[in-house]
Formats: sequence, C-alpha cells, structure tokens
Amino acid sequence: MIAGLSQPQKTLPPKYFYDAQGSLLFEAICRLREYYPTRCELALTRRHLGDIARFAGRGIELIEYGSGASVKSRLLLGALRPAAYVPVDISEAALQGAARRLARAFPWLELHGVVGDFMQPLTLPLYRTRSLRRRVVYFPGSTIGNLTPEEAHAFLRMTRGQVGMRGAMLVGVDLKKDANVLHAAYNDAQGVTAAFNLNLLARINRELGGDFELRRFSHYAFYNAALGRIEMHLVSLARQTVAIGPHRFGFDTGESIHTENSCKYSVEEFRALALAAGFRAERVWQDSRKYFALFGLVAG
Ligand code: TRP
Repeated sequence: MIAGLSQPQKTLPPKYFYDAQGSLLFEAICRLREYYPTRCELALTRRHLGDIARFAGRGIELIEYGSGASVKSRLLLGALRPAAYVPVDISEAALQGAARRLARAFPWLELHGVVGDFMQPLTLPLYRTRSLRRRVVYFPGSTIGNLTPEEAHAFLRMTRGQVGMRGAMLVGVDLKKDANVLHAAYNDAQGVTAAFNLNLLARINRELGGDFELRRFSHYAFYNAALGRIEMHLVSLARQTVAIGPHRFGFDTGESIHTENSCKYSVEEFRALALAAGFRAERVWQDSRKYFALFGLVAG
C-alpha cells in the first residue's frame, strides 16, 4: 500500500478489494442490472455445460483461482463431477462460506480450500492419486482482465507449468464491445461499484490506521480505448494530506489513485495471448450477444 501510494501515479493492488466486506460488495456488483459479465458467463456456461464437461474430462482435479462465492463453479461441479475441487481465494470469509455451502450441496466431493494470492506460487494439496489426475485450472469472471497483457502472459505461463502436459485451463474473458455498455457496467446507478472501490480506503483506515475521509474521494471509471481497458480510479476531490501510520501522502485536487484495470479482449487477441504462453485454444464458447467468452485451453 505504502509503495503504491508513493509512486507518481498512485496505485493500489486490486487484490486488497476483497476483505469480507469487499467480497460481499462484489457479490452485489454481480447482481447489478448494468454488470453483464457475471450473467453472460453463467448463461454461456449453462448452455454449453455438456461440451465443457467433455472438454475437461472426468475425475479431474479442478483448481479455481479467485473462487469467491463459488457460484459458477457449482455448475461445473455438478456436470464434471471432479475427483477434487481446490478453490483458492484471498478472502478467508468468502472461502469459508463457499466451502460450507458446497460441502452440503456436493457431499461426495473432495474439497480443499486454500486461502492465498494465486499470483504467488501456492502450496496446493497433494492427492494420493494425483499422478493419475488431470489438473484443470478454472479462472472465470474475466479476472485475467485485471492483469495487464504482460502480467497475463506471465500468469498463463506459470499456470501452464502447474497443470503440466496433459493439463488444461478454462478461462473466462470479457470481450471488446460498445464502450457505453462497458461504461455502464462500471458506473452503476445505485453506486454499489463506487462503494466497492471506496472500500479499499475504508479498509486502509480499518486495518492500517489510515485517516482517509471517504467523502473527499470519488469513484471514477472510464474505457481507455487505446489500451482496450476499463480503468478504475479514486479521485481526490480536494487538495489534502492523508496519513497511514507515520506515512503522509499529499493529493492535489483531481489527482487519482489507480485501483484497477479491466482489460477487454477480442477472441483473436486472447487466442494469441494464450498461444504465446504455451496454451492452444481448443474450444471457445460464447454467449448469444458475444459479450463474453470461455476458453478451453490445452498445452501446445
Ligand atoms: N474483476 C471485476 C472486473 O474487472 C472487478 C470489478 C468489477 C471492479 N467492478 C469493479 C473492480 C469496480 C473495481 C471497481 O469486472
């Protein structure tokens, strides 16, 4: 946090959005009329479930990065009947809630949650029969869009190493589309997205003894067409100084903290990105409006 706020363009790592409060706010975002990605991905997953299950295979080890409430995973778990499911999430509260519900809904399932940051090398549970199992990493929600293309390349390479030669990956990718649709998705009328963005500052106050006045910052999200991404910022509404413990940070009026990118790809752009990282896009499933795509990637 300190390092990010010390840069000329202040930035904060988006993974810190997801404390217990932030995870609940994100679930509320997913229910918003304007926020199409969750509904599109759910719809396309439901529609192509049989095909997705054939792609992944039976008796696999399914690892999910950023599982949150594990809503989409429920569809996969029912259809794929994996031998093991390993949800990985940075929010312990979200993970525990999800694990409790899944254990009830799928009593036959071997479930092992991991609290952690999936960008770091993780210690994943070793199953006795592991050598016989195909590893499939599930990475929905277009979380991959929250990485820059360079970071996404490195992340795909790392995952390619994790799943091995026979492994696979299912990645949800938000597609390029009318900028007005994109804009609305990140600027909802009810202000839930603003509350989610501002929770990052509230969290600094709660956990690091910061003194951010939330009313003096405003949520700002816009589509940067040149870079093909939505950028999320928190803009200072005044000239002010904020303290976090012994550290002081000055803000000019209109100066922003860059809190997240959400990169949008065309199907061809993402196919090329995956290929450069060692994955061949064997399948691409899309919703009827072509707003969102789920890629079935295999080594190659
Ligand atoms: N992964 C989500 C996305 O890129 C995260 C998100 C949705 C988000 N709305 C937001 C992040 C608003 C910050 C602010 O779509």
